[in-house]
Amino acid sequence: MKKEEIVFEQLNPDACRTYFVGSPETKEAALVDPVLGATEEYLRYLENGGWSLRYVLDTHTHADHLSGGRLLSQRTGAEYAMHRKAGSKHASMRLTDGSTLALGETILEAIETPGHTKDSITVKLPGRLLTGDFLFIGSAGRTDLPGGDPGEHWESLNRVIPSIDESTLVCPGHDYQGKRESLLREEKRTNSNLRPRARAEYVAWLSATRRPTPEWMVATVRANNDGPTDPALNFMPPDEVSACMCEPAPALDLREISVEEVQRLVASGGESGRLLLDVRRPDEYVGELGHVPGAVLVPLPELPARLSEIEGYREKTIIAICRSGSRSAKATALLRDAGFQNVWNMTGGTLAWREKGFPVER
Ligand SMILES: [Fe+2]
Repeated sequence: MKKEEIVFEQLNPDACRTYFVGSPETKEAALVDPVLGATEEYLRYLENGGWSLRYVLDTHTHADHLSGGRLLSQRTGAEYAMHRKAGSKHASMRLTDGSTLALGETILEAIETPGHTKDSITVKLPGRLLTGDFLFIGSAGRTDLPGGDPGEHWESLNRVIPSIDESTLVCPGHDYQGKRESLLREEKRTNSNLRPRARAEYVAWLSATRRPTPEWMVATVRANNDGPTDPALNFMPPDEVSACMCEPAPALDLREISVEEVQRLVASGGESGRLLLDVRRPDEYVGELGHVPGAVLVPLPELPARLSEIEGYREKTIIAICRSGSRSAKATALLRDAGFQNVWNMTGGTLAWREKGFPVER
């Protein structure tokens, strides 16, 4: 009789991914990259399925969100596994290249893949690679955060990718387009980080989009090393994407439109030909600052899954708006990647709009 296959599931609703791997024969399970704020949901999921958590694993020290690794290991007795170079004070298992974790007969193998961070690992399981921020669908994690190194990233890609079967599914640590997984064969064909390049060319390409590390990310790394246990803790400022922030910089050719130009468009009517897209949270949209009259709300974290709602604007003008212009820049890049033809970022956001004394709705 054919043995039951492993149970594999992605547990988060947003761009930040947490993977569940379970062995149906032993009911032992592992969680990869759990998010601290969702700890109770994970525990409920485990309980409902009758799973016993053997391992919780972080693919690297996260700078964008707080890890639920320590709290889950405290609550369940699971081993907390990270790379041997991780700064975590609470990881109970230190992984190196080729380390294995067993769930019944299913083996999870750690592959060292530094570049996004020094302690990045990719987890190999039957038919799948959990790549963390080493490789996304169509791109890869930033290499300009603390511990990141574009040259090391190139070396990891060139050492590891050719050795993996092309029919393997790539399951990334984040995805901003709402995609779940992708065949390695397809990534080799389309992923801009996997385009064949010399090391120096790759380093120059990534170095062109270097950005400073924001203070809140430094604080997030420090907290992750200390092992946060308060699910309400969060360092991400309200104006950042309420998901994950390890993605590469948006395209350099971002198209910007000033609040004055948008005001002229609003005053001239013609709503059917364009879409003002507010990508903030619902409470901001109706809050103190208000929103540009006629702007439609689709919060940035929900945008990848709600593209069908704005399908009619594929060839029309879309103006993305947020509080200060940072989330809307990401929305602009996301929509352009998704094939929308004429997308603009309103510079300075609703703050700049209010400063000019233009009217708002609440
Ligand atoms: Fe990351």
